[in-house]
Amino acid sequence: MNERLKTLLEESVNSIKEAASLEEAEALRVKILGKKGQLTEMLKSMKDLKPEERKEFGQAANEAKAQIEKSLADTVAMLKDAQKKARFLAETIDVTEPGRTAAPGFKHLVSLTIDETIDFFTAMGYTIAEGPEIDTVHNNFDALNAGPNHPSRDMTDTFYINDNVLLRTQTSDVQARIIASQQPPIRLISPGRVFRCDTPDATHSPMFHQIEGLVVDEDITMADLKGVLDKYAKFLFGSSLATKLRPHHFPFTEPSAEMDVECFKCGGKGCNVCKGSGWIEILGCGMVHPNVLREGGIDTEKYTGFAFGIGVERIAMLRYGIDDMRLLYENDIRFISQFK
Ligand code: DAH
Repeated sequence: MNERLKTLLEESVNSIKEAASLEEAEALRVKILGKKGQLTEMLKSMKDLKPEERKEFGQAANEAKAQIEKSLADTVAMLKDAQKKARFLAETIDVTEPGRTAAPGFKHLVSLTIDETIDFFTAMGYTIAEGPEIDTVHNNFDALNAGPNHPSRDMTDTFYINDNVLLRTQTSDVQARIIASQQPPIRLISPGRVFRCDTPDATHSPMFHQIEGLVVDEDITMADLKGVLDKYAKFLFGSSLATKLRPHHFPFTEPSAEMDVECFKCGGKGCNVCKGSGWIEILGCGMVHPNVLREGGIDTEKYTGFAFGIGVERIAMLRYGIDDMRLLYENDIRFISQFK
C-alpha cells in the first residue's frame, strides 16, 4: 500500500478509537471522509498517477476507506451504548426509598372547640342551625326583647349597615329566626361568627365566635338547663369539677344566669387563672323570656325553653392556657402548631 495512504489509515483509525463523544466522531468523519476530507483529497489526486499505478492505488484506497468506515461505525456504536448506560444510571429510581409525605393539616383551636361542642350536643339529640352574619336589627335585638333603649344597640357597640341591617352582635339572632319559623320541640345549637365595635386587645376582638343553644318544649325547666350545661362544663374541663349558676341579666331570658365552673387549674383554691376566686365564668344562659316565644307565635302556656350562649375563643383560651386572644387570629404557624 502506498506510504501516504498507510499513514493516513493508521492515524485515522487511532484518532477514531480515541474519540470521546459522538460529536468528536462526527468531526473526524468529516475531516477524513467528507467532501474535502483527507482521503477524498487523496482519491482526487489519483488522476495524476500513471494508469498502471492507478488501479492498485484505487483498490488500496477503497480498502482503507472501508476500514475507516468500519472503525467509525464501531466507535459510534460504542459511544451510543455508553450514552444509554449513563442515562439509565441517571434515571434510576430507588423504589425502596420512603415516599415524601405531605405534612397533614390540623384543626385551628376555634374550629376544634366548635367541632367538639357540636359532637357533644349532637350526641344529645341537638340539631345544628345556621344563620347569616348580616342580619336585621329586628332579629338581633327587637325579637330578642332588647327594646329600643337597650344599651347593646348603641352605635358604638354595633356595626350598623343601615337603620335596619347590621353585622350580628350575637348568635342569639338565630333564636329569633328559628322561633319565628318552627314550632316546638326545638333543640338546636348554632355556631357562628359575631361582630362588635371593639379594638383588639388580649380579651377583645371585633370578630369572634359564639355557639348558641336553644331548647323549647313542654315541661322544660331550669333543672334541664342546669343538667345539660353542667355536663357540658364537665366535658370541657373535667368530670370532677363543680358548676354553679350565678344570677345575671340578658333581655331574652328570665331568669338569666352565668355558669361558672370550678377552676380546673387550682381545683377551686384560687390562682392566677381564676383570679383568686376559685371559679371561672364559661357561658351565659337562662329560661327563654315569654316575650321572645310570643314574638315567634309560640304558645307560652304550653311551652317553655332555655337558651345559652358560649364564647368559643374564651373556652379555647381557658382550655389551652392562651393569655392573648389575638394569637388565635395571627395565624403564626409556630403558635398554632403547638396545639397539634
Ligand atoms: N347573646 C349573649 C351575649 O352575646 C350570650 C347569651 C346569654 C346567649 C344568655 C344566650 C343566653 O342564649 O341565654 O352575650
